[in-house]
Amino acid sequence: MTNLRLANLEIASLDVDAVVIGVVSNEPDIGLAPGAESVDRAFDGGLAGVLAGLGATGKQGEVTRLPTFGKLSAPVVVAVGLGKERDASADGGEALRRAAGAALRSLAGSASVALALPAATAEDVTAAATGALLGNYAYLTYRTGNGHKKPVGEVTLISSADAGDALNRAEVIVESVTLVRDLVNTPPSDLSPEIFAETAEQVAGATGLSIQVLDEKALVDGGYGGIVGVGQGSVNPPRLVRLAYEHAEAAHTVALVGKGITFDSGGLSLKPADSMDWMKSDMGGAAAVLGALKAIARLAPKVNVVGYLAIAENMPSGTAQRPSDVITIYGGKTVEVLNTDAEGRLVMADAIVRSGEDDPDLIVDVATLTGAQLVALGTRTAGVMANDDAVRDRVVAAAGRAGEAVWPMPLPEELRKGLDSAVADIANVSAERWGGMLTAGVFLREFVPEGVRWAHLDIAGPAFHKGEPYGYTPKGGTGAAVRTLVQIAEDIAAQGL
Ligand code: BES
Ligand code: MN
Ligand code: ZN
Repeated sequence: MTNLRLANLEIASLDVDAVVIGVVSNEPDIGLAPGAESVDRAFDGGLAGVLAGLGATGKQGEVTRLPTFGKLSAPVVVAVGLGKERDASADGGEALRRAAGAALRSLAGSASVALALPAATAEDVTAAATGALLGNYAYLTYRTGNGHKKPVGEVTLISSADAGDALNRAEVIVESVTLVRDLVNTPPSDLSPEIFAETAEQVAGATGLSIQVLDEKALVDGGYGGIVGVGQGSVNPPRLVRLAYEHAEAAHTVALVGKGITFDSGGLSLKPADSMDWMKSDMGGAAAVLGALKAIARLAPKVNVVGYLAIAENMPSGTAQRPSDVITIYGGKTVEVLNTDAEGRLVMADAIVRSGEDDPDLIVDVATLTGAQLVALGTRTAGVMANDDAVRDRVVAAAGRAGEAVWPMPLPEELRKGLDSAVADIANVSAERWGGMLTAGVFLREFVPEGVRWAHLDIAGPAFHKGEPYGYTPKGGTGAAVRTLVQIAEDIAAQGL
């Protein structure tokens, strides 16, 4: 973990490898963001002009490096674009998070960095710290030799704000997002369902969460036909993990349910190679639930939260489930498995039904559920569906405040008939070709306990970033949904449901 401190120090004499300042675009001019004043003084008030001469425009994510020629103790100033003169309340701090993240990424390999970014308020401190720490992420577990740049070791956030809590909150969130990124990035040979469940046990032990793990035998005995069916083709048997955080003064209980397919080959309905190479990310929902519970345990909001991780490996083999097999989900509903690649909804069905036993006021499930999510919303925006419009809109609002892109989607009634099965209560895929993300949501809705409010997040795209890094988002696992889930728990603790 990066060493991060908050300090109100004289920047000119700071002994660091680089000082980061913010630049805003006031077309056609650029301006320096608050925080850069003392650096500007060292340049006799001419810093904006020098940066403009180097081509800086202030647009979001732009990084301009400038040698200090001894004007500061630090040898380099890094100016990072914040975009248009920002309106902090409008973007929830996202411009600042992204700028801090882009700056830290550009400084990988440095030992120490000072951030002279806007950080006058506690919100700004949280945003700058969160962006910097998330941007400073690197997954080096499988790198050998010294050819790969290490993340920055020490970050000093310059601020006069009394913002220790704000900083602590940022660190808690970042540690959880980092856990999720690491889990998603781990090669599936090293993250079998058993190992994933053991990791959850370690997290629970370290944070004081209670935990229960159902192994393959307990799953068969308990009647979890979805998880058993999906997992039966793999030599690595499935698991269902239940985590619980309790607050003595809680008035509500939230259940979080995550899809934990440690590798999705498609099963006998095998995926083509191009679609398979990122299916180690198919446990991103369960990882997000684990990460959220870890953060919630440390932030201690007044709400009870239970988390379910529905974990299996979806593989083809002689023991794998077949297209046309009928399975019985926990609680008794039968499903005809017409396509073994629509496995997420099967493991989720078991866990959603089971979560009803905790008498939740709200169930939020998170899953890398459909390729159709990417078709509908692209790679960066998650879809949220719900059995209650107000709940859906609250999830959208919570995500916005947490800095994650989530968009409301419908659950059209007419899609249900496409899931009619000739032999079972429901089929796992539809005869209807269009609206696959919504059809998956309609399928899951059938398993939501009667009378319980429920929201479903499809994070198929956002969980894993295949493109070049941007802002604080690296290549690979992103940690999508952790911040939103934590925000939902905090909102319910503060405002009820
Ligand atoms: N894990 C996939 C969905 C997915 C696709 C996640 C791309 C991330 C990126 C899921 O299990 C799946 O295979 N869904 C099928 C469902 C179909 C068979 C109805 C899909 O979307 O193609
Ligand atoms: Mn699949
Ligand atoms: Zn899947």
